[in-house]
Amino acid sequence: MNLSTMNNFSLLLLLSSISLAASASLHQNFIQCLSFHTDKSFPFDSSIYTQTSASFSSVLESSAQNLRLLEPSAPKPEFIFTPATDAHVQAAVLCSKKLGIHLRVRSGGHDYEGLSFVSVIETPFMILDLVKLRGVDVNIQDNTAWVQAGATIGELYYRIAEKSSVHGFPAGLCSSLGVGGHITGGAYGSMMRKYGLGVDNVVNAQMIDAYGRILDREAMGEDLFWAIRGGGGASFGIILWWKIKLVPVPQTVTVFTVTKTLEQGATNIIQKWQQVAPNIDDNLFMRVIIQPAGNKTQRTIATSYNALYLGNSRMLLDLMKQNFPELGLTRKDCLEVSWIRSVLYIAGYPNDTPLEVLLQGKSSFKNFFKAKSDFVREPIPEEGLEGLWSRLKDEDSPLMIWTPYGGATSRVSESDTPFPHRNGTLFKIQYLTIWDNGDKNEAKHVQWIRKLYNYMTPYVSKFPREAYVNYRDLDLGMNKKNSTNYIEASGWGNMYFKDNFNRLVKIKTKFDPENVFRHEQSIPPLPISSVASSIG
Ligand SMILES: Cc1cc2nc3c(=O)[nH]c(=O)nc-3n(C[C@H](O)[C@H](O)[C@H](O)COP(=O)(O)OP(=O)(O)OC[C@H]3O[C@@H](n4cnc5c(N)ncnc54)[C@H](O)[C@@H]3O)c2cc1C
Ligand SMILES: *[C@@H]1O[C@H](CO)[C@@H](O)[C@H](O)[C@H]1NC(C)=O
Ligand SMILES: *[C@@H]1O[C@H](CO)[C@@H](O)[C@H](O)[C@H]1NC(C)=O
Ligand SMILES: *[C@@H]1O[C@H](CO)[C@@H](O)[C@H](O)[C@H]1NC(C)=O
Repeated sequence: MNLSTMNNFSLLLLLSSISLAASASLHQNFIQCLSFHTDKSFPFDSSIYTQTSASFSSVLESSAQNLRLLEPSAPKPEFIFTPATDAHVQAAVLCSKKLGIHLRVRSGGHDYEGLSFVSVIETPFMILDLVKLRGVDVNIQDNTAWVQAGATIGELYYRIAEKSSVHGFPAGLCSSLGVGGHITGGAYGSMMRKYGLGVDNVVNAQMIDAYGRILDREAMGEDLFWAIRGGGGASFGIILWWKIKLVPVPQTVTVFTVTKTLEQGATNIIQKWQQVAPNIDDNLFMRVIIQPAGNKTQRTIATSYNALYLGNSRMLLDLMKQNFPELGLTRKDCLEVSWIRSVLYIAGYPNDTPLEVLLQGKSSFKNFFKAKSDFVREPIPEEGLEGLWSRLKDEDSPLMIWTPYGGATSRVSESDTPFPHRNGTLFKIQYLTIWDNGDKNEAKHVQWIRKLYNYMTPYVSKFPREAYVNYRDLDLGMNKKNSTNYIEASGWGNMYFKDNFNRLVKIKTKFDPENVFRHEQSIPPLPISSVASSIG
């Protein structure tokens, strides 16, 4: 659709919506509008769930990962629409604009602050849930695949492995992540040191823009195509499909998990890890999962080295003997598997789990949590680690994951994609605190993690203190509730994107000047009055 037919279309819609009965409810008007734009005979009422629908709660909860955002106090949508075709998504964008209902789009539902299904800045709002749009079309000859936004990354991995045992894709570790939201923020995983991030391996996309047009890479142009590969979800449009480049993987890879407690020398070993893991052979991805262990009287810290090596165990053992003998890796610790089995292993499934678990299309574990992220550019000294251990021991159910950088991820320049955490980054820290339903200490847990984050200030990146946009954190920046303002947004904007933030704002201003796609941490357009002077 070009712009001039678009305008006629909008005019028609405007005339038709004026004639709608003023008393009709918002969702009924929405259905009429959808029918007008797409298929008159399509039974839209069975794909729309209002707060009074019997299945409203189950649809709302279906893919929501952080249960904190499902609590009764969290704002609820007016209705949820589950489109069955790309054209339905297009119509939903036009109709939400026309009817003035704020739109949230959800793919896999893993947003840390639930921004895909909760709006604290605006009511009424609706959810466009892409759960039915999960096509995966793998083309081995071409080394590419088209994957629809509502598919999980696990479904993508499964469909690749079904066609070839020597192809893979370098994206997230958790198999229930939605391709739609995940890739918009970067998408790191166990092959990031060998092949970079998901966004480094995207070659095309299909997206609905703020005017309801479906654009591919050529139609959107290189600026917008740059912005959607790392600039964060739901700021520039709605991704319908990504076209990705497949990468080669060996027939046999090796995985291991080795745990060391403080009594077993964990502090010294992790000091060595900080030097080794970001610089070792690109084929080795060795992260560390850190949590308290033991009992109340004798609490310790357990550091689990959880790794994927793109090669066999003999080569891995040689590599570790030369570079990291302190870990004491043995043949017994190593498991040689296919790449797709390694996906299940790293995602935490037991070794005999059928591969088809990747097709279940949603998460099998959910909890209440608050998380934060940091990037480390210089090894954390021993006194820093000691303070960290004692803080972890104070909290009920904390968790840290240290992810090594370097390799291919660090060979991409900071401005090649909006994701700026490249050369010089040793590793990323993710901090989490998790609690159960009925835990009355939510505020205490959140307070604990904020204090921990303050404690870490001297040991992590500065000016700006960097953060990963896919680990969305509404504490960042100056104003938690309202970042539609450019000055306020630059607080978190610089942390997530460094200098790329300014370019993202310019692209936003050009392609979505009215801020159709917005949320608590979306890229803000410049106010209309300042556009003329700053775009050039
Ligand atoms: C358990 C867990 C494990 C994780 N592991 C990893 C990991 O290994 N690697 C990694 O990089 N990240 C990881 N993440 C973070 C993850 O990448 C982000 O939470 C990501 O945004 C999830 O995408 P989603 O589609 O599942 O989420 P959603 O909640 O559906 O969406 C996230 C954001 O993107 C927007 N969005 C959703 N769909 C679209 C679309 N089609 N077009 C445009 N915008 C859209 C939403 O509105 C929201 O703002 C993990 C998160 C969790 C909870
Ligand atoms: C706690 O763990 C230590 C070390 O494993 C053990 O010696 C001790 O008996 C345990 N105490 C209790 C109360 O279980
Ligand atoms: C990364 O940074 C280091 C030190 O600043 C520099 O020597 C190296 O050339 C850089 N590498 C790349 C790929 O830019
Ligand atoms: C957010 O900020 C914008 C611009 O500064 C303002 O128009 C809007 O009313 C604010 N919204 C809230 C909920 O404070």
